[in-house]
Amino acid sequence: MNKISLIFVLLLSLPAFGKEITVKDGGTIQAAINQAVSGDVILIHPGTYRESVYVDKDNITLRGVVKEGKWPVMEGDHKLNDAILYSGNGITIEWIKIMHYKGNAIMGQSGNNYVIRNNWIIDTGVYGIFPQFGKNGLIEYNVLSGIEDAAIYVGMCDNVDVKHNEVFDSVAGIEIENTRHALVENNYAHNNTAGILVFITPGLPIKTTYDVIVRNNFVVDNNTPNFGAPGSIVSKVPVGVGMVIMAADDVKIEGNIITGNQTAGIVITDLAFITDVASDKESEPNPDNIQVLDNLMFNNGSDPVAEVKAAMLTKFTTTGPDILANVGSAQEPDNCILNAERYTSFGIGKWSQCDISTTADVTTYLLKGDAAPRDIETTEDRVARLYKGICAGCHAYNLRMIGPPTMAIQAQYYENPEGIADYIANPVKKRPDFPAMPSQGHLSEELRMKVAEYMLCLSPGKLAEVAATQGQVAKCQQP
Ligand code: HEC
Repeated sequence: MNKISLIFVLLLSLPAFGKEITVKDGGTIQAAINQAVSGDVILIHPGTYRESVYVDKDNITLRGVVKEGKWPVMEGDHKLNDAILYSGNGITIEWIKIMHYKGNAIMGQSGNNYVIRNNWIIDTGVYGIFPQFGKNGLIEYNVLSGIEDAAIYVGMCDNVDVKHNEVFDSVAGIEIENTRHALVENNYAHNNTAGILVFITPGLPIKTTYDVIVRNNFVVDNNTPNFGAPGSIVSKVPVGVGMVIMAADDVKIEGNIITGNQTAGIVITDLAFITDVASDKESEPNPDNIQVLDNLMFNNGSDPVAEVKAAMLTKFTTTGPDILANVGSAQEPDNCILNAERYTSFGIGKWSQCDISTTADVTTYLLKGDAAPRDIETTEDRVARLYKGICAGCHAYNLRMIGPPTMAIQAQYYENPEGIADYIANPVKKRPDFPAMPSQGHLSEELRMKVAEYMLCLSPGKLAEVAATQGQVAKCQQP
């Protein structure tokens, strides 16, 4: 190799040194993103930014500059849908105050290797921080309040640490949903309807939740009346629950302080607890291998919801439970507990004594290096990822999430993918009892059409099958 090509190779192998791009009050963050290249840091100075931004490049940092208590504020005025959407890998978002959006403060759409920290998020609609379908992410030192669904919602992710966040005055504080290898540690979840939830939502493309550690959190006074959108899953979460473990497997609960939650400290249950739909045959509905190690629990269950009260009466007790293991395998001996006698509990009679006493050997679930960036994809892969990364955040197959069930949309549109492609570019409000759907106009016409066909073809979907065999839908060839 000659010298010049050697230097060239060395340069290429160095990490990218990005430049800094400054945004000041009066400017827009999106303009800075548009001119940024991989490795750049966008410095956002104090000021008010009324915009929705979309980051579809890799390795971009959005960093607020906080000066003498003055923050850069993204202000949605209760009109804009999302503050920040990203689909790139290696995105960092930090030191930004985000208020009054209708949809999400920060939503990741299948970006890997994300870092979301030190943000201050107030009343941003459905979700506060919502990485969806991403691998290897860190969410730390954020403060969130006033969120209608989940303040922090980790959906369909792998390898996530959620640490040192404060979540309050929301319906759900922290949700770990259809996610594997998650550490939820040192968070303060208080005054929500429910504090920390680890669960499976049936009908999503990823079917499991397992290998989760919930450790050293303060889970206190989660007794805020449920103000979730009527009909949504989260609106069914009973008030006054510290933690919910629903259908998730291999969950370890250690070192938490759980007090003052008026229905129960920890509810361990199968899918029937919240969802009232026929469950997804690919999602196993029971919580298996739940390990409750030492935790500090008192003053839970002082004023339980009616169902729990009824259960108490059958046991002739007036003190509500620290632990309520509800039904099915929630009560079985493959679950275990340490020092069970310290707590008031229902349904753990058959549980064994745990043979471990600590999870200290696990310090993080982040990967040692970065998760590999996505391979160069075929259009089909890209479409599947788009659907999982964006649409599935609000549309589950057979139950109502934020948007109507995919099944219902298939019935409505099965001969008409064009109709979907048009609608999602310019969604108009149709259903009085649903929020508005955010525009997907940033997708090309071709992609919108492909994602529409993908949605119509999703199974389990008799309609999709029928439509495919009758040639009514152009293409139903994905698995
Ligand atoms: C942030 C949540 C959200 C995301 C993300 C989302 N939707 Fe929706 N969607 C909704 C809501 C809410 C409605 C109901 C809106 C209404 O009825 O006013 C809806 C309605 C629809 C409808 C029904 C339109 C009609 O005519 O009734 C279709 C089709 C649809 N979405 C497709 C998609 C596709 C495809 C994607 C992904 C590219 C997607 N949605 C992403 C929330 C979302």
